[in-house]
Amino acid sequence: MTWMLTGGAGYIGAHVLRALSAAGMDVVVLDDLSTGVAAKVPADVPHIRASVLDRETVRTALVDHEVEGVIHLAAKKAVEESVREPLFYYHENVEGFRRLLGAMDDAGVRRLVFSSSAAVYGMPDVDRVSEGVLPYPINPYGQTKLAGEWLAAAAQRALGIDCVLLRYFNVAGAGAPDLGDPSVTNLIPLALGAMEAGEPPVIFGDDYGTPDGTCIRDYIHVADLADAHVTAAQRVTGSGSAAVYNVSRGVGSSVREVLDVAREVTGIDLPARVAPRRVGDPPRLVGAADAIATDLGWQARHDLHDMVASAWEARRAAG
Ligand code: WQD
Repeated sequence: MTWMLTGGAGYIGAHVLRALSAAGMDVVVLDDLSTGVAAKVPADVPHIRASVLDRETVRTALVDHEVEGVIHLAAKKAVEESVREPLFYYHENVEGFRRLLGAMDDAGVRRLVFSSSAAVYGMPDVDRVSEGVLPYPINPYGQTKLAGEWLAAAAQRALGIDCVLLRYFNVAGAGAPDLGDPSVTNLIPLALGAMEAGEPPVIFGDDYGTPDGTCIRDYIHVADLADAHVTAAQRVTGSGSAAVYNVSRGVGSSVREVLDVAREVTGIDLPARVAPRRVGDPPRLVGAADAIATDLGWQARHDLHDMVASAWEARRAAG
């Protein structure tokens, strides 16, 4: 059975691609390389260099490769940019997904795994947020992911495209030294980069109402996340459902705790610099991980130390 993986040349996509191949599944990658890297797609995997917005190319690829299901990761994901460029984000993430669903419908493809985000929750005032909590995104990026979830659910009802929607929490680490996160927007890459440069890592606010005053997040290893996609793809079998799951560990780590692990892993003992709060940061965002464990039998295997250590190793390998 062949699956189409959109965004397969990106940081998360390259991990999902390897996990699918390791599970013996045939894959065709669709990636326009706007942020992805061609070298992350092995030579023996077909790579169509196109955007999901190009409905006709997508439809042709689905038919030509006899695709049975789509794992849709291709999207814009920078929160700050989405605040500055909301029209661009809605076009890429919502209109792009709408056209992809149209191409799937044309080609008779009825299975979908959709990349959503914990950003749909906004600022939930709960210890662990479960899927039943009413989503209330606070930036255009999160809004486009929630709109995607609604669109997928509507397409399930109207077109019979069965789907599993995965809400990623804070993805980190590397599954192999050549698959590190090249972004410079998230805490772990930023902290490791600063420490490597001999500069203090930055804490955005230490006056939150949390035990050590810094924000708490639920970090998930990208290799675990990739395995969740394989499990989801194997389970979306035409049961007539649109299921939504957190992909999280249910474990909260504060910024200070992450920096402690980074000091331990790198051996670089630099004190942090406390900067003002970053606008729009929820004090605590930890995901209940029970539903995906119960329904799909998936749970994370890696802890925070694994994430930071593998991110550091990949960083060193990349020079
Ligand atoms: C984590 C914590 C920062 C950098 C974002 C998106 C989300 C998802 C993942 C999508 C926060 C603090 C950070 C630093 C710090 N995106 N921090 N010093 O904001 O939880 O989630 O990325 O695909 O939608 O919102 O992740 O890694 O930026 O921040 O103190 O140098 O670390 O304030 O509390 P975030 P993050």
